[in-house]
Amino acid sequence: MGMPPPESGYAFPGLENLKSDIYPTISASSNPALRQPDKVVLITGAGRGCGRAMALQYVHAGVAAIFLVARTASQLDEVESSIKSINSSTRVYKHSVDVTSEDAVSSLASTVKEKEGGRLDILINNAGGGDPWTLITETTPKDYWSTFEVNVKGPYLFLHAFLPLLLETAEKYKIGTNVINVASIGAVSVRPTASSYMISKLAVQRLAEFVNAEYGDKGVVAVGIHPGGIETELSKDVPALKGLLNDTVDLPGGFVVWLTATPRTWLAGRYVSATWDVEKLESMKDEIVSGDKLKVKMVV
Ligand SMILES: NC(=O)c1ccc[n+]([C@@H]2O[C@H](COP(=O)([O-])OP(=O)(O)OC[C@H]3O[C@@H](n4cnc5c(N)ncnc54)[C@H](OP(=O)(O)O)[C@@H]3O)[C@@H](O)[C@H]2O)c1
Repeated sequence: MGMPPPESGYAFPGLENLKSDIYPTISASSNPALRQPDKVVLITGAGRGCGRAMALQYVHAGVAAIFLVARTASQLDEVESSIKSINSSTRVYKHSVDVTSEDAVSSLASTVKEKEGGRLDILINNAGGGDPWTLITETTPKDYWSTFEVNVKGPYLFLHAFLPLLLETAEKYKIGTNVINVASIGAVSVRPTASSYMISKLAVQRLAEFVNAEYGDKGVVAVGIHPGGIETELSKDVPALKGLLNDTVDLPGGFVVWLTATPRTWLAGRYVSATWDVEKLESMKDEIVSGDKLKVKMVV
């Protein structure tokens, strides 16, 4: 398998600056600058894989409360026990919710508001799914569309329901709040057989850019991320990804904690990869901002 093309951004900070596992700068257990006490975090798809790892890293960062959302209740129970074994005082709320259900997401927003006194600092739209990778004519329409439902409709519903709370929190506490849409390197790639997954990820990446365009001046910092190539329930049986899943779940876990530790407004509306060394990325800040880089644009 060759290296992804330059426009995928795979090697944006240079091949020597790619990471595949958590490292001290993004690890809240070793870097006190990442501590985020008082914050309230909501993570979708938090029952396993990347979402579970993100939740645990936020516990290391000392957040006050975490809302865990996914359909499988037993997996949420397991994540709660793991959280409690790290820090028994973190407030944990578990919600078995299908992210594609408008009613369920809207009622969850009322619950979150009530439980944590109207505070939400960080929304991570991480839940994702896919149908079998195959040529368009070989796909099953219902399954093809369900990929869009979980990958695009879900994040949209959460933004629709939770942006008011993120805006209120930003206003009330005079701090930046965060939206992280988990996209994929697939958002910026065209690989035959992967159209539903990659197009839906492109849409959720652009959705982060729209959140920034519409609410960036009101205190919400929105980014789209690639979490890395990680062997999870979602990816493990995709033959085309064989040999490409070499990163750990803790890499995006630490990366999102780093992203939200201080207001990184210079990254707002952009695509960032958890595989990029964050110190190198920060050293490229001027180039990124002045060149308006890391956005999806047409070459003309
Ligand atoms: N793994 C990779 O290499 C990779 C690469 C690029 C991007 N990503 C993205 O990273 C994110 C996390 O994926 P992962 O690899 O960690 O996969 P995973 O281990 O399979 O986790 C997916 C999570 O999403 C939840 N979920 C799926 N459909 C849902 C729905 N309709 N309602 C509520 N929750 C739902 C799942 O829980 P339930 O099934 O219990 O609901 C699970 O907790 C996804 O957005 C994925 O596209 C992953």
